[in-house]
Amino acid sequence: MEKLALLGGEPVKKTPFPAWPQYDESERQALMEVLESRIWWRTPGTKTLQFEREFAAYHQAKHGIAVTNGTAALEVVMAALGIYPGDEVIVPDFTFVATASAVLFAGALPVLVDVLPTTYCIDPQLVEAAITPRTKAIIGVHMAGHPADLDALQKIAKKHNLYLVEDSAHAHGSEWKGHKIGAIGDMGTFSFQASKLMTAGEGGMIITNNDDLERAARSAHDCGRLPGEWFYAHFNYGSNYRLSEWQGAVLSQQLKRLDSQAAIRTRNAAYLDKTLPSIEGITPQAQDARVTRNGHYAYIFTYDRKAFAGLPTEKFIQAFNREGIPTQASYPPLHDLAVFKSGAYRKRLPPQMANENHAFLSAPFTNTLRAAWETVWLPNPVLLGSEEDMALVVEAIRKIQRHAKELL
Ligand SMILES: Cc1ncc(COP(=O)(O)O)c(C=O)c1O
Repeated sequence: MEKLALLGGEPVKKTPFPAWPQYDESERQALMEVLESRIWWRTPGTKTLQFEREFAAYHQAKHGIAVTNGTAALEVVMAALGIYPGDEVIVPDFTFVATASAVLFAGALPVLVDVLPTTYCIDPQLVEAAITPRTKAIIGVHMAGHPADLDALQKIAKKHNLYLVEDSAHAHGSEWKGHKIGAIGDMGTFSFQASKLMTAGEGGMIITNNDDLERAARSAHDCGRLPGEWFYAHFNYGSNYRLSEWQGAVLSQQLKRLDSQAAIRTRNAAYLDKTLPSIEGITPQAQDARVTRNGHYAYIFTYDRKAFAGLPTEKFIQAFNREGIPTQASYPPLHDLAVFKSGAYRKRLPPQMANENHAFLSAPFTNTLRAAWETVWLPNPVLLGSEEDMALVVEAIRKIQRHAKELL
């Protein structure tokens, strides 16, 4: 008789999904080249420089500036855009903390707004409603690889004379209406942390088509230096956010693999999009028709416990994992994080702003709450599995649904 793996039965999926990160002889060779060149750091090197050019060109952008991680990329962008203490930047409530902490790092206030119930990307109507005379920029996050509504965000940014930043930490290679994301807005940021679609363990990138912003970001990421000037001449406030040659060399190789991996993820996501809606209580993250390619950092579906005998999301995930399907955690709502709840974020703000009432923190954030607590995330390596693997993912959900009562 069929039995849930969590109750001692056989798991639906008995073999592991593809390992992550992926590498082959080309990464090994690239690392050896750096080793033997004895040039291990960015400034005199060629590998990170070359990777910047390749990555920017791949995303149809004029400039790329490699940095230490995706959080650093956002911090450097804040510096390049001239976001200063007392400014406001509108960010989604549903994202990784870095999207907001980079704003706080600049001494500015991250104004949190809810996301759309369908794509879990920032809600443009709420963005427009949140604009004040202090607003300087909007950060859209391409959630799990799905681009935010760039048409609407660009229109709002233009109308109100604001910068548009694309936090593309999840979205390497994603496209909006046939154009790669990242430099559709004023500046885009990427992460190469271990779970991302390309990785060197850590790493980040900024891309832009704007020459002045490029110069400002390049200076900010390299101690306030300017290209071509004396090494000990410092023109602006900056810090050291340079990416090492090791990482640049590895990432050049990782970029070569991105398209073939993306093709597999796209095929598998299409299968899940087609199949999962037939299960009562399961709703995949919607795909806007203007998205011509979704990088699929993860595959998100909403879970309605009512269709699973009331089984809580956490328990569903536990059972799903035991059936051999790995998941990754969703993000908690930013407004619920201790840094906001305790008021600790106020320490980053200038005194007058720190003492104000920030009413946006009491918004209902209905869609973010659902995205945080009622979704299940399949990590990118799962999407690199075979078509049979995808059928097993679906079967594991059906099996739990058939036996949900037994877990209560
Ligand atoms: C949406 C988003 N923004 C920014 C970051 C920060 O990137 P990193 O971890 O490389 O600092 C992440 C990474 O996890 C992210 O998911």
